[in-house]
Amino acid sequence: MKIHWLVLALVANAIMAGGAKFRHEKFHSPPVKSPEKDAHAEKIRKLIKPSNIRDNLRELTKTGHVAGTEKNLRVAKWIRQKTIEYGLENVHFNEYDVLLSYPDWKRPNHIEILDSNGTVIHKSTGRSKPLTKEETDEETELQWLAYSAEGAVQGDVVYINKATPEDIAHGKIVIARYSHSFRGNIAKAAVQAGAIGCLIYSDPQQVAILGTGPEATYGKTDKMPPDAVQRGTIYIGVGDPRTPAFPSIKGLYKEKTEEDLLNEKAIPTIPVLPIPYSEAKIIFERMNGKPVIPGFQGGLNVTYKYGPGFTNNQKLKLSVCSKKEERKIQNVLGFIRGKEEPDRYVLATNHYDAWTYGAVDPNSGTATLMEVSRAMMEYMNKTGYRPAKSILFGHWDAEEFGLVGSGEFAEEYREQLMSRAIGVVNMDLIGGNQTLLGITNPTVANVLRSAARKVEHPNPSEVQEGRKTMYDSWKFYSPSKNNRSNEPWQMIPAGGSDHLPFYNYLGIPIIFFVTRSLDTFPSYPLYHTMHETPHLMENILDADFKMHKAIGEMFVESILAFTDSKLLPYDLKELLDDVTLEFLPAIRARFETAMKDKKLMKYLEPGYEQFGLLEKTCQLLNEQVHMRNESLLSQSSAARLKVENDRLMELEKCFIKPDGILGNRQSRHLLFSPSQENWYSGNAMSQVHDLLTRIEKSKNDKKMDKLSKALAGEIGHIHVAFICAKHSLSPFFAS
Ligand SMILES: *[C@@H]1O[C@H](CO)[C@@H](O)[C@H](O)[C@H]1NC(C)=O
Ligand SMILES: *[C@@H]1O[C@H](CO)[C@@H](O)[C@H](O)[C@H]1NC(C)=O
Ligand SMILES: *[C@@H]1O[C@H](CO)[C@@H](O)[C@H](O)[C@H]1NC(C)=O
Ligand SMILES: *[C@@H]1O[C@H](CO)[C@@H](O)[C@H](O)[C@H]1NC(C)=O
Ligand SMILES: *[C@@H]1O[C@H](CO)[C@@H](O)[C@H](O)[C@H]1NC(C)=O
Ligand SMILES: *[C@@H]1O[C@H](CO)[C@@H](O)[C@H](O)[C@H]1NC(C)=O
Repeated sequence: MKIHWLVLALVANAIMAGGAKFRHEKFHSPPVKSPEKDAHAEKIRKLIKPSNIRDNLRELTKTGHVAGTEKNLRVAKWIRQKTIEYGLENVHFNEYDVLLSYPDWKRPNHIEILDSNGTVIHKSTGRSKPLTKEETDEETELQWLAYSAEGAVQGDVVYINKATPEDIAHGKIVIARYSHSFRGNIAKAAVQAGAIGCLIYSDPQQVAILGTGPEATYGKTDKMPPDAVQRGTIYIGVGDPRTPAFPSIKGLYKEKTEEDLLNEKAIPTIPVLPIPYSEAKIIFERMNGKPVIPGFQGGLNVTYKYGPGFTNNQKLKLSVCSKKEERKIQNVLGFIRGKEEPDRYVLATNHYDAWTYGAVDPNSGTATLMEVSRAMMEYMNKTGYRPAKSILFGHWDAEEFGLVGSGEFAEEYREQLMSRAIGVVNMDLIGGNQTLLGITNPTVANVLRSAARKVEHPNPSEVQEGRKTMYDSWKFYSPSKNNRSNEPWQMIPAGGSDHLPFYNYLGIPIIFFVTRSLDTFPSYPLYHTMHETPHLMENILDADFKMHKAIGEMFVESILAFTDSKLLPYDLKELLDDVTLEFLPAIRARFETAMKDKKLMKYLEPGYEQFGLLEKTCQLLNEQVHMRNESLLSQSSAARLKVENDRLMELEKCFIKPDGILGNRQSRHLLFSPSQENWYSGNAMSQVHDLLTRIEKSKNDKKMDKLSKALAGEIGHIHVAFICAKHSLSPFFAS
């Protein structure tokens, strides 16, 4: 995921925030079944071979392969060659020239501790140690964060845990703990607080829960060893930072220079570095100041203090070498042409670039998606079967830097995707062997659930407990949190992986899923470390690649639900139930609480009035969609079905606001746009929540006036989207 796909973070976040962000399903008729489609899907699933996935993974992860490098080009060429061999059509590179960021591979970033005379008394190596014989690529050892500012800074340290740094950070180097927040938001908060540098580390309390010795960490387990760090991007955004909402095609206009980006603080203006917990310990051991509150104390054997600064007048120096460079990236695309409606397609995608070897993120997914495309071709060759609609297999590049490959593709093919793509099934990684995590648009939540119901759980410990399918364990570990459903809860779409530009910029419904183990919140412990190797998969997480195969099977089921269902599998009832029973009541409750304050009342009134009108329209639309009979519709003539499917696609596009949400040209979905506070998550209609928060916090009348108008305006835009949705379901001249 630029992703940092750290989507697991979303879950934990969501749990803390209560159920309000999640959608649940209610009791309504299950989606229409298609026996033929099910028969094909089942046969294709049987052709997926775990040994092929293992072989793919070994080849993909031979070296580190950061986007924009020769090593990643080797991986791209290999995926292209295999995809051609499988027999897919029009297999090609889709290239962009984009601004990426690299460390100096010869001079590692590092920290130093200086005594009061300026003598260096400690210096970190800036490298993590290889622990297994697969780890032969020295470049994977370097510790860095993409788009950090370059430079060396020296000063006093303050510990801010996961919190937003306040005034205490001004002029200091902050040390923060990786947590549920996207690291870009941590860096941004440090810049806003006036810090001169920022260190981020993973605490053993989260990543080394069995202990920090060699028997308890990687090599032997899937837990983080003392020298490892989580790499990643700290850019908050989608695609080449120079070209928001514009494709970075070679030679074309680039709106912003690197200098512009720094001036606008669109990329961090201070050095930011990930450090291992062994180095964090050396810092905490000499911190001044008061001991922290219990929630800030981590798992290192030392009393955590806030600082500022060290005892004995020692200072910290942080040195980061970072070059931002334009490099060529290539998405690898291949097609299976549909036999009835070749111009309608589902996208089945995963990225392939990695911070290091990438055996979990993302090549567990890449290896699986490749095998899915091979199995489909084998089945087509053997039986003459062809899906009714087309499939685009997309292996995205430079996802790690900020969804760059998928983002540029979405910008170049904006109109074609909006009018022809019926769904995106995106994976990122197989992060554990126990259960599923699902994120979908409400309209297609049913597709993921029905895929999960069909796939047997590969982990014997789950099956022994009576959880025979992926669905059973998903529901067990993520039960519904409301009274209207007994389905597993799913999150509304947010950031974290390549699905984001497709739903958020283009309004195409998405399905995103990953697997997780249970003891590994907020992400798996070795996330973005150099220890993401085949050894981890083959000896610790998924020895027989059975979970990989199960995920491949879910891909097949989800893809065919889109290509071979006569009526698109968009469940409008689920969307409207979520809107009327969950999203709108959450906003109403906030209004009602805030309006108790007489002073705020005046500023909330115009928005509240608009909100009442929005609720009425949603009720009417809700009644309308509950009267639709999908099973009747799916028996219509081909011509009638085409009309109906076109309307369903059009309805989804009603939620796209062309000029963007709250001024962000790339974030255009009126219902689902990630929160600006934490890119990994967000409430439904986050812009309304954000404005309500700002009005509640604001003290300045003039500013409140502006916010008051903005609130009424944003609600008005959402209202128009639902009016548009009503229009989509009706003939043009109907009343
Ligand atoms: C700093 O330098 C002074 C004078 O050379 C010396 O006396 C003192 O011990 C030094 N302090 C440290 C911490 O090395
Ligand atoms: C923690 O540190 C203290 C003091 O340095 C030491 O006595 C103790 O053995 C350490 N505990 C562990 C579990 O390492
Ligand atoms: C399918 O058939 C084509 C054409 O003969 C062949 O090139 C391709 O390798 C076959 N694919 C698989 C997976 O068997
Ligand atoms: C579920 O229903 C019970 C009983 O009516 C009620 O007390 C509870 O608040 C409801 N929970 C939610 C999440 O709506
Ligand atoms: C699942 O993963 C855990 C580590 O998280 C590992 O200890 C266990 O053996 C794995 N189980 C299977 C069936 O692969
Ligand atoms: C929907 O149509 C089917 C016929 O295809 C019919 O059997 C069913 O009763 C209808 N359902 C409703 C709720 O009207």
